[in-house]
Amino acid sequence: MASIVIAETIAAVGINALESAGHTVHDLSGEPRDALVAALKEADALIVRSQVQVDAALMAAGPKLRLIGRAGVGIDNIDAPAAARAGILVVNAPDGNTIAAAEHTFALLLALARHIPAGDRSVREGTWPRATLKGFELRGRRLGIVGLGRIGRAVAVRAAAFGMQLLGSDPLVSPQDAARIGVRLVSLDELLGASDVVTLHAPAVGAQPLIGAAELAKMQSSAVLINVARGSLVDEAALAAALASGGIAGAAVDVYATEPPVGSPLLTAPRTVLSPHLGAQTSDAQVAVAREVAERICEFFRTA
Ligand code: MLT
Repeated sequence: MASIVIAETIAAVGINALESAGHTVHDLSGEPRDALVAALKEADALIVRSQVQVDAALMAAGPKLRLIGRAGVGIDNIDAPAAARAGILVVNAPDGNTIAAAEHTFALLLALARHIPAGDRSVREGTWPRATLKGFELRGRRLGIVGLGRIGRAVAVRAAAFGMQLLGSDPLVSPQDAARIGVRLVSLDELLGASDVVTLHAPAVGAQPLIGAAELAKMQSSAVLINVARGSLVDEAALAAALASGGIAGAAVDVYATEPPVGSPLLTAPRTVLSPHLGAQTSDAQVAVAREVAERICEFFRTA
């Protein structure tokens, strides 16, 4: 039976599943890296979410490690080539967060479109600035979905219910496949130029941000950008500059280049709604991903 170290909080249902299968679980969530390093010495498997950086040094602290489980979709906080070199398998939980992330996209979009944070502040402060808080409707607006994987598709289905027109860009998806969910597939450039709302649902790949100054310059000055995917997809300084100059009309951001985003120019940028990486943070999603990652780990040690 395996010794499994948990580095970030996962739902109890996942821990129970691992223990019921006979594995020993060491819950180090919230502990400093030193404690994690010490616990890894005897560990066969490690479970993380998105905040712990699993680099080659951390893996080296676990000479018996055979598996890293990611309780979530992206594995960009895990050095996958280093894991492969060390013979460690990386598994994730790709399904459980889909609806939570799609719904959070709309939570942020509607909060931005209807000035909810500013409205909330004004009521508490005893002001009533209805005239300056005029928003826009989603109906009839063009939504450009960058990345048509599970989350992008779930966003498309919900956006259609709001009466939005859908554009999408994804190098791995055919126009016919996109059309099946009501999305017209276009190039990223066309999407940026034509969309009223651009929403990112692509994985973090490559060293360069997908959305930098040049891409922001292609967006309409009335358009807004939503990022519930990964912080590294967007050049935060360029986004803050585009917001300050009126190059785009607003942004809602859940994920940052560094988390928490201490000193990020987005903290002081105008017309922004910010949330602290809440995309997957629902009780439903956390139960689902904990269950999913525990199943994959149990399966690995059953058959290994
Ligand atoms: C994910 O990639 O699934 C999420 O970002 C995980 C998280 O919330 O930590």
